[in-house]
Amino acid sequence: MSRQFCGKLFSKAVTFADYGRPQEVLRVTDRAIAPLSPTGVRVRILAAPINPSDINQIEGVYPARPTFEPNVGAVAGNEGLAEVVALGEQVAQRSPNSDGAGLQVGDWVLPFRRSFGTWQTLASVEASQVVKIPKFTNVSPLAAATLTVNPSTAYRMLKDFVTLRPGDYVIQTAANSSVGRAVIQLCKAWGIRTINIVRDRDNLDQLVHELTELGATLVLTDGQLREASVRAQLKELNGPVALGLDCCGGKVSTEVARVLSHGAPLVLYGAMSKKPLTFPVSLFIFKDIQVRGYWMTRWYGQQDHETRLTMWTELLKLIDQGALQSPSFHVIPWLVPPVANADDVNGSLQTKIQDALRDYSAGFTNKKFILAMDPKLLTEKLSG
Ligand SMILES: NC(=O)c1ccc[n+]([C@@H]2O[C@H](COP(=O)([O-])OP(=O)(O)OC[C@H]3O[C@@H](n4cnc5c(N)ncnc54)[C@H](OP(=O)(O)O)[C@@H]3O)[C@@H](O)[C@H]2O)c1
Repeated sequence: MSRQFCGKLFSKAVTFADYGRPQEVLRVTDRAIAPLSPTGVRVRILAAPINPSDINQIEGVYPARPTFEPNVGAVAGNEGLAEVVALGEQVAQRSPNSDGAGLQVGDWVLPFRRSFGTWQTLASVEASQVVKIPKFTNVSPLAAATLTVNPSTAYRMLKDFVTLRPGDYVIQTAANSSVGRAVIQLCKAWGIRTINIVRDRDNLDQLVHELTELGATLVLTDGQLREASVRAQLKELNGPVALGLDCCGGKVSTEVARVLSHGAPLVLYGAMSKKPLTFPVSLFIFKDIQVRGYWMTRWYGQQDHETRLTMWTELLKLIDQGALQSPSFHVIPWLVPPVANADDVNGSLQTKIQDALRDYSAGFTNKKFILAMDPKLLTEKLSG
């Protein structure tokens, strides 16, 4: 889905020229990509998820701002999996410790630059802006394309705020999100128990069953969490509620804070409800709860390459062993049915992406939406 014209290579890209509602501002355009520099690589993007932060970035309410190119705008998307298709002449000859050392055509790489612009087919970047990851037999391209944001966030939040011991409880909101599912499975692998809060829905039993199968200890709706009998039950747990994780905001955050054990941190990492937080002062005075914030982007910026790769390799091994399953994917194929000309191709793709964004924004989808630029991915197993 890339084309060559007058010696230039074009990437088909989802772009925006102004901040605003994604359904209104996104366009699909053919964007000329930069020539390959001696220290660069050209990559073909295979798949890229739609994460809440991508939407926030398009809306202009995310602190990581993209670069706007004249006549094109900014390319949307921050996460994804790419394959190396060409190497700059110096890259193949690099010493083992320099950026981009050891990269080969065909390698899987993860974009590693803020606001990379992953919702496109091709990119020419400096070799230091991608990171090679090992290929494992049971790690699908879709699982690899969604590694750096959600499973990594779950991993860090469980490791970095308190030392969790086997038998401890972690309470979390939006437990059916991609982060939430990773939290459940990592906790299961590490012997930690989870109290999982979800929003009520028609098919609640099915969702409770799904999360329990993943390893959830308890699954409750936010309504149940407000019931006196449930609160009384949670006071009698046979282990401390040592950590709270919240990406919703609003009333449910207050209820989660009430369940925490003395001195436990409540880590805020998202604001899906877009509602403000209110905590009774008594929770600070008598329980000494610690309200903290977490941002994966900040962690990445503070770590060296070895530390990041150690975490990713551990996560990839868990995925390979079947201990860390991806959420079910809603795949948005980049291919469009045959149409008369290039403008129609772009128009059809644009409509398809806008429709997907509208469905995603409505909530209750229980799926991770992902753009599949590589047609081979359409035959992939779509979960696990
Ligand atoms: N701070 C960081 O570094 C960091 C990193 C990764 C992710 N995050 C945040 O983590 C959260 C989950 O991301 P994800 O990619 O895992 O999400 P996801 O898989 O796309 O799932 C979205 C989740 O949000 C819930 N949700 C949607 N609208 C909601 C609303 N109005 N009120 C309450 N819950 C709502 C959904 O529940 P329903 O099924 O009930 O709709 C679902 O659980 C987001 O807030 C994201 O920004 C933060």
